[in-house]
Amino acid sequence: MKDYKEKYGPWALITGASSGIGAEFAKQLAEKGLNLVLAARREDRLIELAKEIQQNHDIQVKTIQVDLLSDGFIDRIRETTDGLDIGLLVSNAGYRIYVGEYFDNPLKEELDMIDLNIKVPAILTHHFAKDMIARQKGGIIYNASVLGYMGTPYAASYAGSKAYGLVQGEGLWYELKPKGVDVLVLNPGLTNTEMTAPHDFSPLPMKLMMPGPVAKSAIEALGKRSRVTPGGMNKVSNWMSKFMMTRNMNTRMFGFFLKKVLKKSHA
Ligand SMILES: NC(=O)c1ccc[n+]([C@@H]2O[C@H](COP(=O)([O-])OP(=O)(O)OC[C@H]3O[C@@H](n4cnc5c(N)ncnc54)[C@H](OP(=O)(O)O)[C@@H]3O)[C@@H](O)[C@H]2O)c1
Repeated sequence: MKDYKEKYGPWALITGASSGIGAEFAKQLAEKGLNLVLAARREDRLIELAKEIQQNHDIQVKTIQVDLLSDGFIDRIRETTDGLDIGLLVSNAGYRIYVGEYFDNPLKEELDMIDLNIKVPAILTHHFAKDMIARQKGGIIYNASVLGYMGTPYAASYAGSKAYGLVQGEGLWYELKPKGVDVLVLNPGLTNTEMTAPHDFSPLPMKLMMPGPVAKSAIEALGKRSRVTPGGMNKVSNWMSKFMMTRNMNTRMFGFFLKKVLKKSHA
């Protein structure tokens, strides 16, 4: 525990900490003794979580109410983080998954998704990695998705935006390692959070995971490898996708299942 704090502390910044996997990151990093900066739009949720964590752990917690899609969001974050040693960046906030026909989704939604899932992590990384490199220690966790591995019909842009996180993260994992900074890409499969709640994913041949084990897998894998896929079923499915199927076969398979999800949602 001391090692983790020394390596990735004293402060961690978690985006999208107001619910789901991000809130779990907060609770579990508190257990590791890291001080926390929690960022999201819903301030009430952040304050509630901060109180809960501080009742159980002797750490400091700060909250930032911020819309990451607003201009100059990094300045708003810096009002709180300048002067703090952010040793761990958990770039977790993500745009809600859209499951549907591509042209039924308004262009604004598509562009906001690209901004939140691609531009925001890029800006955060640029800002916080510099100090980590100067200190020759730190960590960055990107929350991507198993869908980032393949073209995914009916969630094409979401999967594309997650592919960016996966590929950029892998590149930085290699580049920043000699500078003392560990990078990890977390690729969750379906997880039971507010993001998945609006859809009925029962036609898919896998069960939703709970967010706790998803966050835990990333916290444990940081510094040991470049990416992690949580859950036995997701690991098997990843292995099969990689070694037993072509890329087109994967895309067709996901197209088949997501069309069923789509039909069920509209039934
Ligand atoms: N659930 C899954 O099946 C699954 C699978 C693979 C990957 N993921 C990834 O996991 C990450 C966390 O998602 P989740 O499943 O935990 O869903 P979630 O509970 O809906 O969490 C999403 C988080 O992002 C924040 N957020 C969204 N838009 C924001 C904005 N404009 N500005 C600031 N914060 C914003 C939300 O906070 P506010 O609403 O308070 O702003 C919330 O804290 C996402 O990157 C998602 O793509 C999820």
